[in-house]
Amino acid sequence: MWRKIIIFFVNTQYLHNELLQWYESHRRDLPWRDTTDPYAIWISEIILQQTRVAQGLDYYLRFMSRFPAIADLAQADEQEVLLFWQGLGYYSRARNLHAAAKQIMQSYNGVFPTEYSQVRSLRGVGDYTSAAICSFAYNAPYAVVDGNVYRVLSRLLDDETPIDTTIGKRRFQQLADRLLDKNEPRLYNQAVMELGALCCIPQTPHCEECPLRQLCMAYAHQTAVLLPVKSKTKTIRERYFTHLIYINSQSQTLLQRREEKDIWHHLYQFPLVESDHLLGTAEVENEYLKENEQLVKEVELTHVLTHQRINARFFVIKSVSLPKWNGSSVVSLSNIHDYPLSRLTLRAMQLLE
Ligand code: ADE
Repeated sequence: MWRKIIIFFVNTQYLHNELLQWYESHRRDLPWRDTTDPYAIWISEIILQQTRVAQGLDYYLRFMSRFPAIADLAQADEQEVLLFWQGLGYYSRARNLHAAAKQIMQSYNGVFPTEYSQVRSLRGVGDYTSAAICSFAYNAPYAVVDGNVYRVLSRLLDDETPIDTTIGKRRFQQLADRLLDKNEPRLYNQAVMELGALCCIPQTPHCEECPLRQLCMAYAHQTAVLLPVKSKTKTIRERYFTHLIYINSQSQTLLQRREEKDIWHHLYQFPLVESDHLLGTAEVENEYLKENEQLVKEVELTHVLTHQRINARFFVIKSVSLPKWNGSSVVSLSNIHDYPLSRLTLRAMQLLE
Protein backbone atom coordinates (compact mmCIF):
# COMPACT_ATOMS: atom_id res chain seq x y z
CA MET A 1 0.00 0.00 0.00
CA TRP A 2 2.72 2.51 0.95
CA ARG A 3 4.26 1.91 -2.46
CA LYS A 4 1.11 3.12 -4.14
CA ILE A 5 1.06 6.39 -2.27
CA ILE A 6 4.73 7.17 -1.87
CA ILE A 7 4.96 8.35 -5.44
CA PHE A 8 2.80 11.36 -4.53
CA PHE A 9 5.51 12.53 -2.19
CA VAL A 10 8.18 12.73 -4.86
CA ASN A 11 9.00 16.33 -5.58
CA THR A 12 8.76 16.08 -9.36
CA GLN A 13 9.80 19.67 -9.96
CA TYR A 14 13.04 19.07 -8.08
CA LEU A 15 13.54 15.75 -9.88
CA HIS A 16 13.06 17.35 -13.31
CA ASN A 17 15.44 20.22 -12.55
CA GLU A 18 18.18 18.01 -11.16
CA LEU A 19 17.88 15.44 -13.90
CA LEU A 20 17.82 17.85 -16.83
CA GLN A 21 20.71 19.85 -15.42
CA TRP A 22 22.73 16.68 -14.99
CA TYR A 23 21.85 15.56 -18.52
CA GLU A 24 23.01 18.82 -20.04
CA SER A 25 26.50 18.39 -18.67
CA HIS A 26 26.84 14.58 -18.89
CA ARG A 27 25.05 13.53 -22.07
CA ARG A 28 26.98 11.62 -24.66
CA ASP A 29 27.09 13.10 -28.10
CA LEU A 30 25.33 10.44 -30.17
CA PRO A 31 24.25 10.80 -33.80
CA TRP A 32 20.60 9.92 -33.20
CA ARG A 33 20.40 12.73 -30.67
CA ASP A 34 21.18 15.35 -33.33
CA THR A 35 18.03 14.62 -35.25
CA THR A 36 14.27 14.70 -34.92
CA ASP A 37 13.82 12.49 -37.99
CA PRO A 38 11.48 9.71 -36.78
CA TYR A 39 12.98 7.23 -39.27
CA ALA A 40 16.52 7.73 -37.94
CA ILE A 41 15.27 7.56 -34.35
CA TRP A 42 13.32 4.39 -35.08
CA ILE A 43 16.38 2.70 -36.62
CA SER A 44 18.58 3.73 -33.69
CA GLU A 45 16.07 2.51 -31.10
CA ILE A 46 15.64 -0.89 -32.76
CA ILE A 47 19.42 -1.32 -33.00
CA LEU A 48 19.87 -0.30 -29.37
CA GLN A 49 17.42 -2.90 -28.08
CA GLN A 50 19.59 -5.65 -26.59
CA THR A 51 22.70 -3.89 -27.94
CA ARG A 52 25.17 -1.58 -26.22
CA VAL A 53 25.71 1.91 -27.59
CA ALA A 54 29.40 1.19 -28.31
CA GLN A 55 28.46 -1.78 -30.49
CA GLY A 56 25.32 -0.24 -32.00
CA LEU A 57 26.97 2.97 -33.15
CA ASP A 58 28.84 1.47 -36.13
CA TYR A 59 25.82 -0.55 -37.19
CA TYR A 60 23.64 2.56 -37.03
CA LEU A 61 26.02 4.63 -39.18
CA ARG A 62 26.42 1.89 -41.78
CA PHE A 63 22.69 1.16 -41.86
CA MET A 64 21.76 4.82 -42.28
CA SER A 65 24.29 5.40 -45.00
CA ARG A 66 22.96 2.42 -47.01
CA PHE A 67 19.26 3.02 -46.19
CA PRO A 68 19.02 6.78 -45.58
CA ALA A 69 15.23 6.92 -45.98
CA ILE A 70 12.19 4.68 -45.53
CA ALA A 71 11.89 4.02 -49.27
CA ASP A 72 15.49 2.77 -49.48
CA LEU A 73 14.81 0.23 -46.78
CA ALA A 74 11.41 -0.80 -48.16
CA GLN A 75 12.87 -1.43 -51.63
CA ALA A 76 15.87 -3.47 -50.47
CA ASP A 77 16.04 -7.28 -50.47
CA GLU A 78 15.59 -8.86 -47.06
CA GLN A 79 18.92 -10.61 -47.56
CA GLU A 80 20.73 -7.30 -47.87
CA VAL A 81 18.99 -5.91 -44.78
CA LEU A 82 20.08 -9.01 -42.85
CA LEU A 83 23.62 -8.55 -44.14
CA PHE A 84 23.70 -5.08 -42.57
CA TRP A 85 22.48 -6.67 -39.34
CA GLN A 86 24.99 -9.52 -39.44
CA GLY A 87 26.62 -10.01 -36.02
CA LEU A 88 24.09 -7.90 -34.08
CA GLY A 89 21.85 -10.81 -33.14
CA TYR A 90 18.06 -10.86 -32.61
CA TYR A 91 17.54 -10.88 -36.36
CA SER A 92 13.75 -10.57 -36.10
CA ARG A 93 14.47 -6.90 -35.40
CA ALA A 94 15.88 -6.50 -38.92
CA ARG A 95 13.11 -8.51 -40.56
CA ASN A 96 10.48 -6.47 -38.72
CA LEU A 97 12.17 -3.17 -39.67
CA HIS A 98 12.06 -4.21 -43.29
CA ALA A 99 8.39 -5.27 -43.08
CA ALA A 100 7.44 -2.06 -41.25
CA ALA A 101 9.19 0.10 -43.88
CA LYS A 102 6.98 -1.57 -46.51
CA GLN A 103 3.96 -1.01 -44.24
CA ILE A 104 4.78 2.74 -44.07
CA MET A 105 5.09 2.92 -47.87
CA GLN A 106 1.70 1.28 -48.30
CA SER A 107 -0.35 2.73 -45.49
CA TYR A 108 1.22 6.17 -45.03
CA ASN A 109 2.53 7.01 -48.51
CA GLY A 110 6.09 6.63 -47.29
CA VAL A 111 5.71 9.29 -44.59
CA PHE A 112 6.53 8.16 -41.05
CA PRO A 113 3.30 8.24 -38.99
CA THR A 114 2.95 10.90 -36.32
CA GLU A 115 0.27 9.44 -34.01
CA TYR A 116 1.32 7.18 -31.15
CA SER A 117 -1.29 4.55 -32.05
CA GLN A 118 -0.08 4.46 -35.67
CA VAL A 119 3.55 4.16 -34.61
CA ARG A 120 2.62 1.44 -32.11
CA SER A 121 0.96 -0.59 -34.86
CA LEU A 122 4.16 -0.90 -36.94
CA ARG A 123 5.79 -4.34 -37.02
CA GLY A 124 8.28 -4.82 -34.21
CA VAL A 125 7.35 -1.57 -32.47
CA GLY A 126 6.23 -2.05 -28.86
CA ASP A 127 5.39 0.32 -26.02
CA TYR A 128 8.97 1.34 -25.40
CA THR A 129 9.86 2.04 -29.03
CA SER A 130 6.66 3.98 -29.77
CA ALA A 131 7.20 6.16 -26.69
CA ALA A 132 10.84 6.71 -27.67
CA ILE A 133 9.98 7.67 -31.26
CA CYS A 134 7.05 9.93 -30.33
CA SER A 135 8.93 11.71 -27.57
CA PHE A 136 12.33 12.04 -29.31
CA ALA A 137 10.95 12.96 -32.73
CA TYR A 138 7.76 14.86 -31.85
CA ASN A 139 8.35 15.81 -28.20
CA ALA A 140 5.07 14.04 -27.39
CA PRO A 141 4.38 13.22 -23.72
CA TYR A 142 4.97 9.45 -23.61
CA ALA A 143 7.23 8.00 -20.93
CA VAL A 144 9.80 5.39 -22.02
CA VAL A 145 10.43 2.35 -19.88
CA ASP A 146 13.47 0.31 -20.84
CA GLY A 147 16.04 -1.59 -18.76
CA ASN A 148 17.72 1.64 -17.68
CA VAL A 149 14.44 3.17 -16.59
CA TYR A 150 13.42 0.07 -14.61
CA ARG A 151 16.68 0.35 -12.73
CA VAL A 152 16.39 4.07 -12.01
CA LEU A 153 12.74 3.93 -10.93
CA SER A 154 12.97 0.77 -8.83
CA ARG A 155 15.89 2.34 -6.96
CA LEU A 156 14.38 5.77 -6.66
CA LEU A 157 11.40 4.27 -4.82
CA ASP A 158 13.20 1.22 -3.41
CA ASP A 159 10.49 -0.79 -5.12
CA GLU A 160 10.94 -4.57 -5.12
CA THR A 161 8.06 -5.36 -7.47
CA PRO A 162 9.60 -7.83 -9.96
CA ILE A 163 9.99 -6.11 -13.33
CA ASP A 164 9.38 -9.27 -15.36
CA THR A 165 5.77 -9.69 -14.24
CA THR A 166 2.59 -8.12 -15.59
CA ILE A 167 2.07 -6.31 -12.30
CA GLY A 168 5.64 -5.02 -12.29
CA LYS A 169 5.45 -3.80 -15.87
CA ARG A 170 2.20 -1.98 -15.21
CA ARG A 171 3.51 -0.55 -11.97
CA PHE A 172 6.70 0.90 -13.47
CA GLN A 173 4.89 2.23 -16.55
CA GLN A 174 2.47 4.06 -14.24
CA LEU A 175 5.38 5.43 -12.22
CA ALA A 176 7.17 6.56 -15.36
CA ASP A 177 4.01 8.26 -16.67
CA ARG A 178 3.55 10.03 -13.37
CA LEU A 179 7.16 11.24 -13.15
CA LEU A 180 7.49 12.31 -16.81
CA ASP A 181 8.23 15.99 -17.36
CA LYS A 182 5.28 16.82 -19.62
CA ASN A 183 6.94 20.09 -20.68
CA GLU A 184 10.15 18.41 -21.81
CA PRO A 185 9.34 14.79 -22.65
CA ARG A 186 12.15 14.55 -25.23
CA LEU A 187 14.86 15.71 -22.86
CA TYR A 188 13.42 14.03 -19.79
CA ASN A 189 13.20 10.57 -21.39
CA GLN A 190 16.72 10.80 -22.76
CA ALA A 191 17.94 12.03 -19.38
CA VAL A 192 16.48 9.13 -17.36
CA MET A 193 17.90 6.61 -19.79
CA GLU A 194 21.28 8.33 -19.76
CA LEU A 195 21.29 8.34 -15.96
CA GLY A 196 20.64 4.59 -16.04
CA ALA A 197 23.37 4.06 -18.64
CA LEU A 198 26.10 6.18 -17.03
CA CYS A 199 25.40 6.63 -13.31
CA CYS A 200 22.66 4.34 -12.00
CA ILE A 201 24.44 1.31 -13.45
CA PRO A 202 23.77 -2.32 -12.46
CA GLN A 203 26.48 -3.61 -10.10
CA THR A 204 28.45 -0.52 -9.14
CA PRO A 205 26.12 2.48 -9.18
CA HIS A 206 27.83 5.85 -8.77
CA CYS A 207 25.46 7.02 -6.06
CA GLU A 208 27.78 9.75 -4.77
CA GLU A 209 27.64 11.45 -8.17
CA CYS A 210 23.92 10.96 -8.71
CA PRO A 211 21.82 14.10 -9.08
CA LEU A 212 18.84 12.27 -7.54
CA ARG A 213 20.48 10.82 -4.44
CA GLN A 214 18.60 13.18 -2.10
CA LEU A 215 15.35 11.68 -3.39
CA CYS A 216 16.53 8.12 -3.78
CA MET A 217 15.06 5.66 -1.30
CA ALA A 218 17.45 2.88 -2.29
CA TYR A 219 20.33 5.28 -1.58
CA ALA A 220 18.86 5.99 1.84
CA HIS A 221 18.39 2.27 2.53
CA GLN A 222 21.64 1.18 0.80
CA THR A 223 19.70 -1.27 -1.36
CA ALA A 224 20.57 0.00 -4.85
CA VAL A 225 22.65 -3.03 -5.85
CA LEU A 226 19.72 -5.33 -5.04
CA LEU A 227 17.42 -3.60 -7.52
CA PRO A 228 15.62 -4.11 -9.80
CA VAL A 229 14.19 -7.48 -8.76
CA LYS A 230 13.36 -10.20 -11.28
CA SER A 231 11.14 -13.14 -10.40
CA LYS A 232 12.17 -15.71 -12.94
CA THR A 233 15.44 -17.53 -13.02
CA LYS A 234 16.85 -17.84 -16.48
CA THR A 235 16.91 -21.33 -17.97
CA ILE A 236 19.49 -22.14 -20.60
CA ARG A 237 18.76 -24.71 -23.27
CA GLU A 238 21.77 -26.73 -24.45
CA ARG A 239 21.88 -27.42 -28.19
CA TYR A 240 24.39 -29.37 -30.27
CA PHE A 241 25.13 -28.25 -33.83
CA THR A 242 27.43 -30.20 -36.10
CA HIS A 243 28.14 -28.28 -39.31
CA LEU A 244 29.68 -29.78 -42.41
CA ILE A 245 31.74 -27.43 -44.57
CA TYR A 246 32.06 -29.24 -47.89
CA ILE A 247 34.64 -27.74 -50.24
CA ASN A 248 35.30 -28.89 -53.80
CA SER A 249 38.30 -28.28 -56.05
CA GLN A 250 36.70 -25.10 -57.43
CA SER A 251 36.52 -23.64 -53.92
CA GLN A 252 32.76 -23.97 -53.81
CA THR A 253 30.76 -24.94 -50.74
CA LEU A 254 27.18 -25.61 -49.68
CA LEU A 255 25.05 -23.12 -47.78
CA GLN A 256 21.49 -23.58 -46.58
CA ARG A 257 19.04 -20.91 -45.52
CA ARG A 258 17.47 -21.37 -42.10
CA GLU A 259 13.74 -21.61 -42.72
CA GLU A 260 12.46 -22.97 -39.40
CA LYS A 261 10.85 -20.76 -36.79
CA ASP A 262 14.00 -20.72 -34.70
CA ILE A 263 17.09 -18.63 -34.00
CA TRP A 264 18.80 -17.08 -37.03
CA HIS A 265 15.68 -17.25 -39.20
CA HIS A 266 16.62 -16.53 -42.85
CA LEU A 267 20.34 -16.47 -42.13
CA TYR A 268 22.60 -18.91 -44.00
CA GLN A 269 24.68 -21.73 -42.58
CA PHE A 270 26.84 -24.66 -43.58
CA PRO A 271 24.77 -27.88 -43.66
CA LEU A 272 23.67 -28.65 -40.13
CA VAL A 273 23.06 -31.82 -38.19
CA GLU A 274 21.41 -30.99 -34.90
CA SER A 275 21.34 -33.80 -32.36
CA ASP A 276 21.35 -34.46 -28.62
CA HIS A 277 25.15 -34.55 -28.60
CA LEU A 278 28.00 -33.22 -30.72
CA LEU A 279 29.02 -35.64 -33.43
CA GLY A 280 32.57 -36.93 -33.11
CA THR A 281 35.06 -37.44 -35.91
CA ALA A 282 34.28 -41.16 -36.17
CA GLU A 283 30.52 -40.55 -36.36
CA VAL A 284 30.94 -37.98 -39.13
CA GLU A 285 33.25 -40.32 -41.01
CA ASN A 286 30.87 -43.27 -40.68
CA GLU A 287 27.60 -41.49 -41.30
CA TYR A 288 28.34 -38.59 -43.59
CA LEU A 289 31.57 -39.17 -45.51
CA LYS A 290 31.22 -40.74 -48.94
CA GLU A 291 33.88 -42.02 -51.28
CA ASN A 292 36.02 -39.21 -52.62
CA GLU A 293 35.47 -37.20 -49.47
CA GLN A 294 38.04 -36.48 -46.82
CA LEU A 295 37.89 -34.81 -43.43
CA VAL A 296 40.60 -32.17 -43.36
CA LYS A 297 39.97 -29.92 -40.37
CA GLU A 298 37.63 -29.37 -37.48
CA VAL A 299 36.97 -26.77 -34.88
CA GLU A 300 34.79 -26.75 -31.78
CA LEU A 301 33.28 -23.71 -30.13
CA THR A 302 30.38 -22.66 -27.98
CA HIS A 303 28.14 -19.72 -28.57
CA VAL A 304 25.98 -18.28 -25.81
CA LEU A 305 22.64 -16.64 -26.61
CA THR A 306 20.09 -15.23 -24.19
CA HIS A 307 18.34 -18.53 -23.49
CA GLN A 308 20.46 -21.08 -25.30
CA ARG A 309 24.00 -22.38 -25.42
CA ILE A 310 25.00 -23.65 -28.84
CA ASN A 311 27.72 -26.29 -28.62
CA ALA A 312 29.08 -26.45 -32.13
CA ARG A 313 31.60 -28.40 -34.13
CA PHE A 314 32.50 -27.54 -37.72
CA PHE A 315 34.08 -30.18 -39.97
CA VAL A 316 35.81 -29.20 -43.21
CA ILE A 317 35.31 -31.92 -45.81
CA LYS A 318 37.19 -31.99 -49.09
CA SER A 319 34.74 -33.28 -51.63
CA VAL A 320 35.17 -34.20 -55.29
CA SER A 321 31.52 -33.49 -56.03
CA LEU A 322 29.41 -31.61 -53.52
CA PRO A 323 26.64 -33.84 -52.15
CA LYS A 324 22.93 -33.12 -52.49
CA TRP A 325 21.90 -31.68 -49.18
CA ASN A 326 18.32 -30.78 -48.51
CA GLY A 327 17.64 -27.11 -49.19
CA SER A 328 21.24 -26.17 -49.82
CA SER A 329 22.82 -24.35 -52.73
CA VAL A 330 26.31 -24.20 -54.16
CA VAL A 331 28.17 -21.00 -53.32
CA SER A 332 31.68 -19.93 -54.24
CA LEU A 333 33.77 -19.30 -51.15
CA SER A 334 34.79 -15.98 -52.69
CA ASN A 335 31.12 -14.87 -52.59
CA ILE A 336 30.28 -16.19 -49.16
CA HIS A 337 30.04 -12.72 -47.64
CA ASP A 338 27.07 -11.92 -49.87
CA TYR A 339 25.12 -14.16 -47.49
CA PRO A 340 24.12 -13.15 -43.96
CA LEU A 341 25.79 -15.53 -41.48
CA SER A 342 25.51 -15.88 -37.72
CA ARG A 343 28.36 -14.72 -35.53
CA LEU A 344 28.94 -18.38 -34.63
CA THR A 345 29.58 -19.23 -38.30
CA LEU A 346 31.81 -16.19 -38.77
CA ARG A 347 33.83 -17.14 -35.69
CA ALA A 348 34.25 -20.70 -36.93
CA MET A 349 35.39 -19.48 -40.36
CA GLN A 350 37.95 -17.24 -38.74
CA LEU A 351 39.33 -20.10 -36.67
CA LEU A 352 39.53 -22.36 -39.69
CA GLU A 353 41.28 -19.82 -41.95
N1 ADE B 1 19.48 3.04 -25.48
C1 ADE B 1 18.28 2.97 -26.06
N2 ADE B 1 17.95 4.11 -26.65
C2 ADE B 1 18.99 4.96 -26.45
C3 ADE B 1 19.26 6.29 -26.84
N3 ADE B 1 18.39 6.98 -27.56
N4 ADE B 1 20.44 6.82 -26.46
C4 ADE B 1 21.30 6.09 -25.74
N5 ADE B 1 21.10 4.85 -25.35
C5 ADE B 1 19.95 4.27 -25.71
